[in-house]
This record gives sequence, structure tokens and C-alpha cells, in this order.
Amino acid sequence: MRPRMLAAMACAAAMLISFAAAQAPGGSSSPNYIPHLGDIMGATQLRHFKLSFAGKLRNWDLAAYELEQIVESFQDAATLYPGIPVTDMTIVADPVRRLREAIEKKDSQKFSAAFNELTVACNGCHQAIGRGFILIQVPTSSPFSNQIFEPAAKP
Ligand code: HEC
Repeated sequence: MRPRMLAAMACAAAMLISFAAAQAPGGSSSPNYIPHLGDIMGATQLRHFKLSFAGKLRNWDLAAYELEQIVESFQDAATLYPGIPVTDMTIVADPVRRLREAIEKKDSQKFSAAFNELTVACNGCHQAIGRGFILIQVPTSSPFSNQIFEPAAKP
């Protein structure tokens, strides 16, 4: 009984370690992998979409999650690409704060107003940085059939 438990514990520990390694920054094939700014932005575009749908369908847990993913991407962009002017990064701070508030209060109207502001901020930076041709809008339909955006249980 005891040795078996020990073996199980060792196995669990090994799994934890390998999971941690997989999660560690640079844990991909190249230890110095730095995502391209365009790739960080591509992920942000995806999450901008998911955030919109989660909010529209009042899936507040998912909305909170996607918003924090966007914030992390912005932080990565600012840290890895210090060439982006700080003033351009701060234009997203206000909409992010308002979105957090709206999600916390489960307020659909405030959410959609703040989401519009975030979208304006996306384009504000693209314009300031000479990429005005990357024009983001509030999504109108879902390209994803492999994820459910409705909350599991109606609030
Ligand atoms: C602080 C500046 C800044 C903010 C804020 C910003 N972007 Fe970007 N974005 C950029 C820059 C710079 C590029 C061009 C990257 C490159 O050319 O490598 C870019 C490129 C993109 C692209 C093109 C990527 C591709 O491969 O097609 C998309 C999509 C995008 N951004 C979405 C967004 C969305 C959505 C938001 C808001 C939620 C946002 N961005 C906010 C600076 C910003």
C-alpha cells in the first residue's frame, strides 16, 4: 500500500514538473522564442472577438477571462516591443477599466459602450503607428463553431 502510494505521488510530481516545463516562458522548441508583434495582435484580434460575444451573451466569466488575456497580450507587446510609444499603450487603459467594471456589474449596456471604446483604442494605436489600414470593428457574426459562447447556466 505505502510503496504504491509513494509511486503514485512520484508520478504526480513528475507530471507537475513536466506541466510546469510546458508552461514556462520559452518552453517551446526555441528557448529564445519571442512572438512577433503581428502574432500577438492576431491573438488579440481573436480575443477581441471572443470578448465581444461573451459580453453579448452575458457569459461574464468568459468575458472576464478574455479581457485579462487581452491585457496580458498588451503587456507582452509593451515589454517585448518597447518601440511602441507608451502613450499609445495607455489609450487602452481606460476602456479596459470600464470593461472590468461592466463585467463585474454584469451590465450589458456599459459593456457594449466600453467595448466600442476599446475598439476605437485599437484603431487609435494602429493609426498613430502608421498601420491605419488595420481597421478593427465590433464583430457582427461568429466565425467559430467549435466554441460555445453562451453561459452554461442562465444567470
Ligand atoms: C499600442 C498600440 C496598439 C494597440 C493598442 C493595438 N494594436 Fe494591433 N497592432 C499594433 C501594431 C504596431 C501592429 C503591426 C504589427 C506588425 O506589423 O508587426 C498591429 C497589428 C494588428 C493586427 C494585424 C495582425 C495580422 O497579422 O493581421 C491586428 C488584427 C490587430 N493589430 C488587432 C488589434 C486589436 C483587436 C486591438 C485592440 C483590442 C489592437 N490591435 C490594439 C499596435 C497596436
